[in-house]
Amino acid sequence: MSETAKINIQGKEIELPLILGSENETGIDISDLRAKTGAITLDIGYKNTGAATSAITYLDGELGILRHRGYAIEDLAENATFLEVAYLLINGKLPNNDEYKDFDLNIRHHTIVNEDMKNIFEAWPTASHPMGQLIAMISSLSSFYPESLGTGQNEEQKKLNVYRLLAKMPTICAMIYKKSLGHPFNYPQNKLDYVSNFLNMTFKHVTEDYEIDPVLVNALNKLLILHADHEQNCSTSTVRLVGSSHANLYASIGAGVAALWGPLHGGANQEVIEMLELIKADGGNVEKWVNKAKDKSDDFRLMGFGHRVYKNFDPRANIIKKACDDVLNKLGIHDSSLEIAKKLEQTALADPYFIERKLFPNVDFYSGIIYKAMGFPVEMFTVLFALGRLPGWIAQCNEMRDQKQPIGRPRQIYTGEILRPYVERGQR
Ligand code: ACO
Repeated sequence: MSETAKINIQGKEIELPLILGSENETGIDISDLRAKTGAITLDIGYKNTGAATSAITYLDGELGILRHRGYAIEDLAENATFLEVAYLLINGKLPNNDEYKDFDLNIRHHTIVNEDMKNIFEAWPTASHPMGQLIAMISSLSSFYPESLGTGQNEEQKKLNVYRLLAKMPTICAMIYKKSLGHPFNYPQNKLDYVSNFLNMTFKHVTEDYEIDPVLVNALNKLLILHADHEQNCSTSTVRLVGSSHANLYASIGAGVAALWGPLHGGANQEVIEMLELIKADGGNVEKWVNKAKDKSDDFRLMGFGHRVYKNFDPRANIIKKACDDVLNKLGIHDSSLEIAKKLEQTALADPYFIERKLFPNVDFYSGIIYKAMGFPVEMFTVLFALGRLPGWIAQCNEMRDQKQPIGRPRQIYTGEILRPYVERGQR
């Protein structure tokens, strides 16, 4: 096979090297294209543009494959803890017993947040959206740890940023939930594991005991793993782009949280439940809503359907669909939203519009039903996505910095006015 690609631009032919990935993914290295021809590539929405070489996550959207560091997502979701997957993503290997103990201990050691952070929470109206709060809180960690701002940090300092982020994220997420209720915050209990600690801080009422339900712990552990990384998606690319200017890790991740909030990305999990409720309130006529989604004059889309890279099935959605049935059964909950979701899936998957466009349920389609069954309000759903995605963002940002990648700075094709003289205001 040829090791180069030939490109002919206005009669001038040049050869560009091919870059092969370990799963034989092929890229054309165009880094010299502009220097040699004056042309750039234009790929709005980056549908065909690789922005990184990365050893973290492998995804084949046609075959529905997702692997982290070589391990299948199905294997990890079935067998691993979320912290093991976090370690794997960040360090490139699964931890042995000692490494796991050390990682876990370091995270437990940093779970508390500075008391002054409470002042920031106090300033917000109770109704402020949890994701807006999360963006601000994650970025504000850079104010509490100003030593994280320097660019020449040693390995120990870099590790400390990682421990602090992983440890404080559940505390902050739980505080956001308590803020929405107007209830006092719970402090972390470091005798508890990562997921149990988060559930305890979130759901323990100050006046009552709270028994941590292993069904919820297992379900949340699985959900967090399923969200842990997804290669160069919108929020991860944002983290990399912001980090490429050598902005500190907290600011870079805060920017990623902002990107995740949008309804076309992580915000879809909230939108799915709102859509299912709407369909239910409208009488449950699924066909009507599928037709609305197909109607190009109607802005409505089936939320939780479609994906930029998965064109066969989203392996995470398959796992979550099964987990959804399990959790609802174990908790003895009957949720009519699940029936509507299944009917919606069935109807859409049999419809030529969805078949031709290869639109399938994505990770957000069923996750909200589990979060709801666990007791989370819809506004918290994207916060839970962020909690899961954190190790992926960290791993991707660190990888980009370790590779000494240059600052991200795309080019453009200018389509505005050409040079024209300034005209006095009265003569325009
Ligand atoms: N409902 C109805 N039609 C859809 C949907 C949908 N959910 N998704 C895509 N389409 C249609 C588009 O209208 C388009 O049709 P056309 O070819 O006739 O113009 C075609 O399918 C391709 O869609 P694009 O928007 O061009 O695909 P893109 O890759 O840019 O977008 C996206 C992917 C944003 C996920 C899209 O499918 C969507 O909006 N889905 C709903 C929101 C959602 O669930 N987002 C979560 C994604 S997963 C995640 O980020 C965690």
